[in-house]
Amino acid sequence: MKMASHGSSLLFGRWRSKWQLMRHFSMNIFPCLAFGVQVLSGTGGLRVGAEFLQEHLKYNTFYYSNPTWENHHLVFVKSGFSQPRVYRYWDPKRRAFDFEGMVEDLSGAPENSVILLHACAHNPTGIDPTREQWEKIADVMEQRKLFPFFDSAYQGFASGDLDRDAWAVRYFVQRGFELVCSQSYAKNFGLYNERVGNLAVVVSDQRLVAPIRSQLTWVVRGMYSNPPAHGARVVANVLADEKLFNQWREHIKLMSSRVIEMREALRAELINYLILNIVLYIYHCRRDSRVQFCNDIFDDNIFINYRYKIYSVFFFFKNKCNYYFVEIIYYNYI
Ligand SMILES: Cc1ncc(COP(=O)(O)O)c(C=O)c1O
Repeated sequence: MKMASHGSSLLFGRWRSKWQLMRHFSMNIFPCLAFGVQVLSGTGGLRVGAEFLQEHLKYNTFYYSNPTWENHHLVFVKSGFSQPRVYRYWDPKRRAFDFEGMVEDLSGAPENSVILLHACAHNPTGIDPTREQWEKIADVMEQRKLFPFFDSAYQGFASGDLDRDAWAVRYFVQRGFELVCSQSYAKNFGLYNERVGNLAVVVSDQRLVAPIRSQLTWVVRGMYSNPPAHGARVVANVLADEKLFNQWREHIKLMSSRVIEMREALRAELINYLILNIVLYIYHCRRDSRVQFCNDIFDDNIFINYRYKIYSVFFFFKNKCNYYFVEIIYYNYI
C-alpha cells in the first residue's frame, strides 16, 4: 500500500498526496481522485487493470498501437477482452509516426473502447506524440468516449526527466479523464526480477474509490493473492525519502544521457563503417528482426542493396564492441 501511494505520487507529481492532487486539479477542471494498487510490475498492472475493466465494467474492445510491445495483445485477450483492434502508429513508408492514421483510427473506434497508450518511450518505435498531438488525441478520445489505459514502463528514460515523461498522463487527468495507468519499476529502478509495479487509478467521484479498490483487490486475490514485498519496499523507501529520491533521479538522468550518447556514437560509427569498409560477412548472416531495425534507421541513399550490407555491420559491431550490440538488442526486445 505504501509503495502504491508513493508510486501514484511519482506519476501525478512529487509529494502530492491524493488530496493535494484533487485540490490541484479541481482548480483547473473538476475534482478527481487518484489511488494505486501494488501489482506485479508493468505486466501485472496491465493484467489486473484489464481484467477489472473487462469483468467489472464490461469493456470488450481494446485498441493497441501497430506496432506495440508484443505482450499487450496476449495480456488483454487473457483478461477476457474479445475484440482486439489496432490503431496505426508507425508509417513504414515515411519511417515516421503516423499521427493522422492514429487519429483516424481512434475517430472510428466504438464508444467505450479501451485505448492502450504508451505514456512515454513508445516500444518499439521510440517515437512519442508531441504535446500538441497528445492534445488532439485527447480531443478525439473525449468525443468518442474512449477509455485511456496508459502503460508507463519507462518513466524517466525517455527524456531523463521524471515529470516530463509523465506529462501525457497528467494532461489527460487535467482534462478530466478517468483512467488507469500501469507503472513498472523494472527498468527505472533496475528491479526487473522483483516484479514491482503500481496500477494507478483516477476517478472523478470519491465514492468510487472504496468499491474500485475492493474489486481490484479481489482480482489480485484470485490471480496471485498478494505481491512480493522486498522490491516494493526498496521503491517505497526511495520514493519516500527526499535524499534517496534525488539520488535516484540523478541516476536516471545519467543512464538516459548515456543511452543517448551511445546511440549517437553508434550512428556515427555505422555511417563511417558503411562508407569506408568492404562488406565481408554477408553470407554468414541470417535475417531477423534486428536487421529490420537497422533498415529502418538508415537512409536508402547511403548504399545500394543496403539490406545485405547491414547484416554484416551488425556482426561487425557485435565482434568489435559488445556494447553496441546490446544497444541494438535493447531497442528490439525490451
Ligand atoms: C511497453 C511495455 N509495457 C510493459 C512492459 C512490461 O514491463 P514489466 O517487465 O515491468 O512487466 C514492457 C516491458 O518490456 C514494455 O516495454
